[in-house]
Amino acid sequence: INFCTPRERKYILEVLVNGLKRLEYRGYDSAGMVLQIDGGNSTNTDNKGPPIAVIKQRGKVSALEEKINSKKNEELDFEFKFSTHTGIAHTRWATHGVPNCVNSHPQRSDDNNEFVVVHNGILTNYKSFKTFLQSHNYEFESDTDTEVIAKLIKYLWDNRESETIQFATLVERVIQQLEGAFALVFKSRYFPGQCIATRRGSPLLIGVHSKSKLSTDNIPILYSSCNKGTFQTHIPGSCAAVDPPSPTLFFYFSGTNQSMQLCRLNSTTELVTQNGESEGIEFYFASDASAIIEHTNQVIFLEDDDVAAVVDGALTIHRVKRGKSTESTTRTVTSLQLELQQIMKGNFKSFMQKEIFEQPESVVNTMRGRMQWEEQRVVLGGLMDHIDEIRRCRRIIIIACGTSYHSAIATRQLIEEMTELPMVELASDFLDRETPIFRDDVCFFISQSGETADTLMALHYCKKRGSLTVGITNTVGSSISRITDCGVHINAGPEIGVASTKAYTSQFTALVMFALMMSEDRFSKRKRYLEIVNALKELPEKIKEVLTLDAEIKKLSDSLYKKKSLLVMGRGFNFATCLEGALKIKEITYMHSEGILAGELKHGPLALVDVDMPILMIVSKDNVYTKVQNALQQVVARHGRPIIICENDDEESVKYASHILKVPHTVDCLQGILTVIPLQLLSFHIAQLKGLDVDFPRNLAKSVTVE
Ligand code: G6P
Repeated sequence: INFCTPRERKYILEVLVNGLKRLEYRGYDSAGMVLQIDGGNSTNTDNKGPPIAVIKQRGKVSALEEKINSKKNEELDFEFKFSTHTGIAHTRWATHGVPNCVNSHPQRSDDNNEFVVVHNGILTNYKSFKTFLQSHNYEFESDTDTEVIAKLIKYLWDNRESETIQFATLVERVIQQLEGAFALVFKSRYFPGQCIATRRGSPLLIGVHSKSKLSTDNIPILYSSCNKGTFQTHIPGSCAAVDPPSPTLFFYFSGTNQSMQLCRLNSTTELVTQNGESEGIEFYFASDASAIIEHTNQVIFLEDDDVAAVVDGALTIHRVKRGKSTESTTRTVTSLQLELQQIMKGNFKSFMQKEIFEQPESVVNTMRGRMQWEEQRVVLGGLMDHIDEIRRCRRIIIIACGTSYHSAIATRQLIEEMTELPMVELASDFLDRETPIFRDDVCFFISQSGETADTLMALHYCKKRGSLTVGITNTVGSSISRITDCGVHINAGPEIGVASTKAYTSQFTALVMFALMMSEDRFSKRKRYLEIVNALKELPEKIKEVLTLDAEIKKLSDSLYKKKSLLVMGRGFNFATCLEGALKIKEITYMHSEGILAGELKHGPLALVDVDMPILMIVSKDNVYTKVQNALQQVVARHGRPIIICENDDEESVKYASHILKVPHTVDCLQGILTVIPLQLLSFHIAQLKGLDVDFPRNLAKSVTVE
């Protein structure tokens, strides 16, 4: 972030630490911070510009915060020396090198912190650069790929051809050498008051905060290299050339094309509006809007190879074409509809618990405006332009990871029934197999975050082969939602808990709506279509009913939390619930858990069954009811004592249960939404009883932006 107005000195620290806390769900094994401190005569004796303080700590952000607080009156001497306007903070999830202080970010060029960088993503060609730099006597201290970037920029600086080389130019040169995925933010002692950010493959956005009413939904924003003193607008319908009185770098157009307002930043980086008022602007670079939403909802999403530079409070963006010279371009300021309270915990113990209880509303939000109840129609606006093409396609291939993959498994049977087309693929396996993809395939990419690297790579793979790509994501502006040809936002609201809950039920709902939309003209499917539409209408109330099981499930978890394992069995429409339930248990309770297809029981898993093995069976009154009853008998005959999740009126299953959890009945293809919720609650309560951090399970990250 870069502050342009005088503020409390401590403010910047608080902003950085709070921002990091909001991003912890992306990874949290260590954290670090960079602050430029006032040099003064005493500290700036080496002619390298004001010193940069680097503070790093293993563990969660709170550990870094403690370290900072304990240092306040020591080397950093914040009250007196710290008057910088710029700082960078990072929370890490290890890919190269174990989580420890030296491997955490920022990585630095040398002991003097001449150049420092934070990085999200993975570099694929760092080894050759490391060898090269080591042969030129650059010494490495960490095991990270990122350190190569810090050393490489210093190498370019050390070998610069001109004394007037700009910081952004150095960064542009660095990224031309890099392969892989990255979002990077740099600082340097040689360029005080400057901060450079860039990305390729990993997300990065700029938050713009100003007090004046600049915000319409889409403010065109103009960027230029500005070296000749003229600007060209890139706004459709207008091509104004203005001659700035000073080498001002940042211009702001507000309003619509019809009534445009040109504002400029003066040399003290205040915004001067047309009526002569001025004020400061703050810029924030962040990998996710949740880090900055409490300061501004005005954001610019950077594109691949954009280099954004804040120089003394003014912003420019250049686009770097690999192998070619840079060129200026335009970007749009978007108003995000994300409220801070939406990402706060409220009265709940954890975000996960809050998100479980939000499901009656989040499912409504997924359907809002799309289910036209009176006409009994489904309109997924984001697919309308391509629906004919989708209906004509040869195959539908649904690609995802983790919970998102389970939502595809959960709805595959229905999509199959309504379209006779789908295949479901795990993104990583799909890529490993180099699955053949053709122009007449339609590929769906399901992802809560819209940033999962495996899913994103599969998307690039399918795009290259000419298939139509469809995104189903929860994150507006995410890479997947921008790169796909069309798609559906599930509108579940921000999901912070690493273990996905409400996103799952919303993805499930969105995919069911898609199946309906595909079959609305088919006479033979009409009855089924209407049955599902009616069931969707009643779904939110039924979810509320399931949530009333909470106290009972809490009690049940008392008898389970000390166990080592939990088997979850079912089949048909409920198989996905078994997989998803077992994943929840593994993710947050660290207990072994397996989702078992009840049809496969006799082919192996039955050997695990005895009187002590905790078993959970999911039974619904659907087309496989009798078969699940068989499985139940097989378990009971081996002295198994299953906990059974079944429908309210299932008197038969009750007879064999050690414990019963009854959920309301809905249409077979939606029953999985109601049967998964008890498992979400169960995993939550077991984790609580074990004293575990429900929202931040060990070794996991919410959004896995590395392969
Ligand atoms: C990570 C998370 C999972 C999530 C998966 C896919 O592994 O820990 O909870 O299901 O990524 O994430 P996506 O954002 O693509 O749905």
